[in-house]
Amino acid sequence: MSFPANPFKPTAGVMPPVLIGRSLICEDFSEGLDDGPGAPDRLMLISGPRGSGKTVMLIELRKLAEQRHWFVIDETASSGLCDRLIAQIAPDHGIFAGTTIKPSLMGASLGEVSIAPALRPSTLRDAMNARLKTLGKGKGLLITIDEIQDADDTDITAIATAAQHMFRENANVAFAFAGLPQVISDLLNAKVVTFLRRASLKKLGDVPLDDVRESFAHTIRSRGITIDDTALEEATQATEGYPYMIQLVGYHMWRAARRRKTNASNEITAEDVQTGIIQARARLGEGVCAPVIDKLPERAVDYLKAMAKDNGPSRTQTIAKRMNATMDYANQYRVKLIEEKIINAPERGTVDFTIPYLREYLRIRE
Ligand SMILES: Nc1ncnc2c1ncn2[C@@H]1O[C@H](COP(=O)(O)OP(=O)(O)OP(=O)(O)O)[C@@H](O)[C@H]1O
Ligand SMILES: [Mg+2]
Repeated sequence: MSFPANPFKPTAGVMPPVLIGRSLICEDFSEGLDDGPGAPDRLMLISGPRGSGKTVMLIELRKLAEQRHWFVIDETASSGLCDRLIAQIAPDHGIFAGTTIKPSLMGASLGEVSIAPALRPSTLRDAMNARLKTLGKGKGLLITIDEIQDADDTDITAIATAAQHMFRENANVAFAFAGLPQVISDLLNAKVVTFLRRASLKKLGDVPLDDVRESFAHTIRSRGITIDDTALEEATQATEGYPYMIQLVGYHMWRAARRRKTNASNEITAEDVQTGIIQARARLGEGVCAPVIDKLPERAVDYLKAMAKDNGPSRTQTIAKRMNATMDYANQYRVKLIEEKIINAPERGTVDFTIPYLREYLRIRE
């Protein structure tokens, strides 16, 4: 038997073979759809660091809605978000059957709509209502927006205002937004969009190692490949439950086994796992950490390297000493790195990394 195709997907936004540890969120969302207008899980905010699975979570929510024959619009935030939404939601490219037709929208086609900011909330509502009229009874409209941290404030306000009205009118709609944790919490604290505080907040963290082990075992053994329990355990531990790393380790140990010319037995050995882990770590650094580090001034990188000497949070005093700098001097970089959301201050006088594996990556580069 030849070695089967690699089932692991270490690529941003691509569905993994098993969506580990997210079944509760799926259940909540499904119930929200089934319970009808007013259900709290019809407004979901998904927050999580890079590589935690926000995009694939939105894809999964989309599937759940489509199974119920809902109409789904997926968007990624960037300038012009609200106008793009309107253009896609409005049936017949902006010509609203049965509702007031906004002259500004007549004959507009996708990507060409530009609406005065003050008119956006009402136009978005009109578009949603017009779309709902075209859908069969009981069928609703789901809007998912990814990378919400890149949205303009005016767009967020317009969308939240429109959503609020739709909910108030008991319309058959649902919204799911995903973004980086800091931005989601800023959003919840912002005065303009108090409505969003009602959202059901789902924080995507690391998944339990027991689930990782089980899914590795299933994904591998169900394809006729053997792996012994020790090797399985090694692979599981190396992921630390970080979703992107799960796919990287899975992918690279599979590849190592397939490429071993002597592998007549279709087995992933402990050695393949070792090779896989090393390659996975290198990839993680390239994919997630390098783009962040390469943009920083040299002394900011020195600050991070000084932090990487610790196994947990670092004291700011210690960092300054390691940099041979005064506290004031080191502090400039601390402020910059916090602004860039690369580090945070878990307590007064301490700093820690916010990007998974950045510490390990910096150590390798030393
Ligand atoms: N629950 C999960 N179980 C296993 N693998 C997962 C899970 N969620 C995501 N992944 C995998 O992790 C990787 C990252 O997923 P995704 O692109 O959705 O993350 P993200 O949070 O959107 O990242 P970013 O902030 O960079 O956009 C992908 O390879 C995906 O297949
Ligand atoms: Mg994403």
